[in-house]
Amino acid sequence: MNADRASYAHVTGWGCYAPSGVLTNADLALMVETSDEWIQSRTGIRERRVAAAHETTASMGAVAALRAIAVAGLQPDDIDVILLATLTPDYWMPSTAALVKEAIGNTRAFAMDVGAACSGFVYAWSAAQAYITSGMARNVLVIGAELLTRFLDYTDRNTCILFGDGAGAVVLSAAESRGGGLGIELTTEPQGAYMIWLPAGGAKRPPSHSTVDRREHFIRMEGRETYRFATRTLASTALAAIAKSGLQPSDIDLFIPHQANIRIIRSVADGLGIPMDRMFVNLDKYGNTSAASIPIALAEAVDSGRVKVGDRIVIVAFGAGFTSGAVAIEWTADPARGALAEAIRPEDIAIRLPVDWDSVDPVPAALVDILARPVAPGVELDLDDVVPGKPEHAPHSTEVPA
Ligand code: ACO
Repeated sequence: MNADRASYAHVTGWGCYAPSGVLTNADLALMVETSDEWIQSRTGIRERRVAAAHETTASMGAVAALRAIAVAGLQPDDIDVILLATLTPDYWMPSTAALVKEAIGNTRAFAMDVGAACSGFVYAWSAAQAYITSGMARNVLVIGAELLTRFLDYTDRNTCILFGDGAGAVVLSAAESRGGGLGIELTTEPQGAYMIWLPAGGAKRPPSHSTVDRREHFIRMEGRETYRFATRTLASTALAAIAKSGLQPSDIDLFIPHQANIRIIRSVADGLGIPMDRMFVNLDKYGNTSAASIPIALAEAVDSGRVKVGDRIVIVAFGAGFTSGAVAIEWTADPARGALAEAIRPEDIAIRLPVDWDSVDPVPAALVDILARPVAPGVELDLDDVVPGKPEHAPHSTEVPA
């Protein structure tokens, strides 16, 4: 047994980052046969954010991470472990977590990525809590960061309307007083393995001209099966986490569900027998940001005054795998500390590039004009262009309709 074992892992810091590019339903209606009316009524999504050419999963994750560290009142080197949940890492290796470690100026932590698709943040939280309560760590940074717009087929209306980019993070810290993550429930159902998947690029089907020609480097999804899994699982996963925390569903002040589809969230509210005003929703602005969805929603919920000290919150997610996960949390941090995140400016953060980096514009052809538009008032400023030299447009095997 470790002498530094702690009884609880409290949330001491939180933060998020959304890139400034905005992709609206009207934009998508120019690319595929769809409409603003269809997307809003079937999903609740109005727009989503798109990372600029110079942004990466690591750069967005680093902004959210530094914001969470500032809110916690810590220095980057106070962090013992960095866990980054993503299904869109910058590279297969190194881990995106390792890149974030360097970008935030941490010299001590061990860092690794966690892969559980949209449930990834909840899975990473569970590992963080276990490190803390076992005594292996005092402060763990848990990040969810995704750059999904570079893995979408902008000729496939089933998928391209759903997803967006962004990052969120929390700091979990060891404490003896009751609070923080209480009950945790995680599930994995591999019979859903090919319901949301990215066919090529891995060991089973390494990237080749033919995988690109067949558009196998883009996310594919069986929407109806995924929808059924989500509505079947989210409420039961949340209930299991609540039961493990010793609470009742009626004790929960706010549910923060994975932001995939407003109809899924409504059905979870029905399943739990709770009114929609106890479900936090921001998917209208961001779409589904996968592993980033819950930490972005959590930071926005706290910063918008929806959470106060002593509140009981449940975060609950589902995703590819199929996976699901939930944590019942007792909130202990002063929500006013969220203002400290404002000190972190995205333009101060850069991810180091390899020495032989050959600059190629990573933005999908279908989104080039959208990113060239002026930034809307109130939207965060772009990062400085960290890619040296003038990027060349990447060759696209199949021209996407403008
Ligand atoms: N615009 C217009 N019509 C469309 C669109 C679109 N963007 N997409 C599908 N349609 C059509 C279909 O082709 C179909 O037409 P048909 O009846 O002629 O065949 C019709 O609309 C109905 O299609 P459904 O798939 O039944 O539509 P549904 O109401 O189920 O909504 C949706 C589709 C939004 C994808 C829904 O199933 C859903 O949200 N599923 C869950 C997806 C999800 O959350 N994925 C993320 C998982 S998390 C992760 O790990 C990545």
